[in-house]
Amino acid sequence: MTGAAMSLTAAASGFVVFLLSVSVVQAQDGWGVTYTATDICAIKGSTVNISCTYTYPSNVRVQETFWFTKESNGIYVDLRTDPEYSGRVQYLCEDKTCTLTIRDLRETDSAQYKFRFITNQPGGGFIGLPGVTLTVTALQVQVTRVTVLQSYTEAELKCLSSDSPAGGLTYVWFQNGQKVPDVESASYKGRFGPGDNISCALKEHEACPSPPVYGPKLLSVSVSPSAEIVEGSSVTLTCSSDANPAANYTWYKKHGNPSLQPASKRFNFSSIQSSDSGEYYCTAENDLGRRTSGSIFIHVTFPGQSVRIMNIIRLTLVVLMLIPLLVLSLWTRKKKTLCFKAELKEPVEMTEFDSDPVYPNISALTPIAAAQTDDSEEQEDLV
Ligand SMILES: *[C@@H]1O[C@H](CO)[C@@H](O)[C@H](O)[C@H]1NC(C)=O
Ligand SMILES: *[C@@H]1O[C@H](CO)[C@@H](O)[C@H](O)[C@H]1NC(C)=O
Ligand SMILES: *[C@@H]1O[C@H](CO)[C@@H](O)[C@H](O)[C@H]1NC(C)=O
Ligand SMILES: *[C@@H]1O[C@H](CO)[C@@H](O)[C@H](O)[C@H]1NC(C)=O
Repeated sequence: MTGAAMSLTAAASGFVVFLLSVSVVQAQDGWGVTYTATDICAIKGSTVNISCTYTYPSNVRVQETFWFTKESNGIYVDLRTDPEYSGRVQYLCEDKTCTLTIRDLRETDSAQYKFRFITNQPGGGFIGLPGVTLTVTALQVQVTRVTVLQSYTEAELKCLSSDSPAGGLTYVWFQNGQKVPDVESASYKGRFGPGDNISCALKEHEACPSPPVYGPKLLSVSVSPSAEIVEGSSVTLTCSSDANPAANYTWYKKHGNPSLQPASKRFNFSSIQSSDSGEYYCTAENDLGRRTSGSIFIHVTFPGQSVRIMNIIRLTLVVLMLIPLLVLSLWTRKKKTLCFKAELKEPVEMTEFDSDPVYPNISALTPIAAAQTDDSEEQEDLV
């Protein structure tokens, strides 16, 4: 079918050949390395895992395992000691399985990766051949919109490489996984619909195409907080989609202004008002197309008002409950004062009996002061 499929088939048959040639050895003494994949394509800057499993006779002990690409005169350069890979490689080996991870891939990492293990046997080193072919691509499709028509967009696509060699290269283009016929140049002008994806590759490396470009898809909208929206609170509308190149986003209010400004993936209401209630939607757009989301409804409630009403009710209830208490306490106080006055009458009369003109006033004052102290104690008890 496609070049990619053909190349994979070729790789797979190469793998089979490799297995057959080794299986004779394996049958004899149980030595072997099997790679999980033998032809790997990765994008510049990404991370790749290269894995294998290995076998050896049970009487043998493994002393060292490593990966290499370079060898001269029987000296194998462990990738961990190769300055070109410094800080970018990691080995993860357990139970006869080893994975090499290379981060931040460069185009110069394109090579044949081989696994070697060394045992305690004399000359007991083993290399899994032919190894894994890693191709790192730095190809990218640059999109330039030409025109937007009713149901499709006309655009010019360019296949670019960050460190592109001099011209004279032949390219292939893939649209929705199918090779575009009769286009072998670095640029491709066409009409693209909402569901189309396009990538490019170098003719001899069709298995290693650029990441695809496509118009916005899977557009989704959300509002935060998702629960009740209260007047005066902060609310964020979020619009997201998958698009390459990245889309720009605009939020709209139905029957409202042309769009919410500033146009952004996230639109913030720092203090939402009741007049902001309504239906909102967003659009996502890149040079390959434009998509409009479904609506999201926002209903702003006024808890401020209901809280105020609740507070008034509470206050009224408290006042209504306090009135009888107040009346009761005043009544008790009055009664007590009367009681004291009744009690006081006797000594007052007695002092009057003494017929001392000064004493009555003093003795009359003292018990009243005592009564007041008593009263305050009673108030404390009430509290
Ligand atoms: C590589 O392997 C590690 C560990 O198994 C895993 O966490 C990571 O996701 C893998 N990365 C890729 C690109 O496959
Ligand atoms: C590109 O389109 C093909 C065919 O529609 C589809 O199988 C493939 O998953 C798409 N790739 C991407 C990355 O969307
Ligand atoms: C909106 O608010 C969120 C959270 O408060 C913040 O992270 C984001 O940067 C804001 N966005 C804009 C466009 O102001
Ligand atoms: C959004 O992207 C489209 C296509 O790239 C462009 O024509 C338009 O001007 C952009 N709008 C904004 C607000 O950046």
